[in-house]
Amino acid sequence: MPTRTIIEPFRIKSVEPIRWTTRQQREELLRAAHYNLFLLPADDVLIDLLTDSGTGAMSTQQWAAIMQGDESYAGSRSFDRFRDSIQDIFGYKHVIPTHQGRAAERILFSVACKKGDLVPNNTHFDTTRANLEFVGAEAVDLPIPEASHPAAWHPFKGNMDVAALEQLIARVGRERIPLVMLTITNNSGGGQPVSMENARAVSALCRKHGIPLYFDACRFAENAWFIKLREDGYAAMTPKQIAQEMFVLGDGCTMSAKKDGMANIGGFLCTNNDILAAQEKDLLILTEGYPTYGGLAGRDLEAIAIGVQESLEEDYLRYRIASTAYLGNHLAEHGVPLVQPPGGHAIYLDARAFLPHIPLSEFPGVALAAELYLEGGIRSVEIGSLMFGKAAKWDLVRLAIPRRVYTQSHVDYVIEVILSVWQRREQIRGLHLTYEAPFLRHFTAHLEPVEAQSAVCV
Ligand SMILES: Cc1ncc(COP(=O)(O)O)c(C=O)c1O
Repeated sequence: MPTRTIIEPFRIKSVEPIRWTTRQQREELLRAAHYNLFLLPADDVLIDLLTDSGTGAMSTQQWAAIMQGDESYAGSRSFDRFRDSIQDIFGYKHVIPTHQGRAAERILFSVACKKGDLVPNNTHFDTTRANLEFVGAEAVDLPIPEASHPAAWHPFKGNMDVAALEQLIARVGRERIPLVMLTITNNSGGGQPVSMENARAVSALCRKHGIPLYFDACRFAENAWFIKLREDGYAAMTPKQIAQEMFVLGDGCTMSAKKDGMANIGGFLCTNNDILAAQEKDLLILTEGYPTYGGLAGRDLEAIAIGVQESLEEDYLRYRIASTAYLGNHLAEHGVPLVQPPGGHAIYLDARAFLPHIPLSEFPGVALAAELYLEGGIRSVEIGSLMFGKAAKWDLVRLAIPRRVYTQSHVDYVIEVILSVWQRREQIRGLHLTYEAPFLRHFTAHLEPVEAQSAVCV
């Protein structure tokens, strides 16, 4: 019988202490941070699950490669290794380095999109949406209907609604759709995967209409692992073969190497289109840097060249996805409401169902995130009414797991903290806004507990 215990497929060579605080200290820290976890000093966080972006641990191979970084301005051999490694997996003709994912998006959209265009996606991440809106284009989300029910189980809840895409093309015309995107895995939709069958159907439709298909490929390795586990015909294939098969369906990609690139910074843009690539490189030189470094150091290119390959290792992916599922399944067994099934890089608690007594105007997601910090020093992030205002479809608390950073006992600790908050959920109060910025208010908002504010008013 296979062993049930999940073990990390690595030994730890270098450690970074994390700091305990008392509950009283955390109460004071939270007050000083205006109940907004973005405003906390990271040193006062015990387990930081704010994001999986750029927060992973690098391997000995990556650190060794960093010493080999060629910092030449032009023609660096680190770029050659970066390009070769990426082409080995992604297969696209042009590989353009950028300082992170959103820079790749900005360059692609500046060159390919214009005012009045529409760009469909399964679900746009906030930076792709904002970069499209910046050039005057409309970002259209076309997830499958199951994606809007947090508790509904679907093996590929990140899929795009192909019929809705077809209707959109018929309604607005092919000329207004310069490209279609598919985000793997679908971060804004709960870290859910896209099946090969769905990618194939989207690709076929795009090709029929002559529309280029681009992958937002941040978590391509995790997506490949879900296909191996859940889709017929893929069990015997390696994650790399699955990823290669998927990328053949597209014409290019944007990528944040801070996720499945296993690096702390970096990204890239790929395309098969020579004309577009030339324009993209011109813009790159203007705003990011020369095309053989694109705003990165040679050592960053080396780390990414190795990181993208390591993210596809089966032992790593088995442990990563099992560990995230372990967290989600343990919580669900105790009745904690969360987005099902557990995603690849994160667990999303359903704060509306967790705290039904807190009205949406009092930010149940922010209240729950604050409570997890108070209880156990855990930092998470609200994705809901504070982040999206009245447009919020749900109030979630995302616990994103940095890659290769926390151990199984850290995960057990997180479960313990969430369950003790769950047991006394009726006592948790909502929050009022006391300050908000004109845009992206969640990063800097100030809040205070509802009762405390009424006390001040009285
Ligand atoms: C799906 C998705 N696309 C794009 C990005 C943007 O990447 P970056 O943060 O490197 O700019 C992210 C980052 O979280 C993401 O999750």
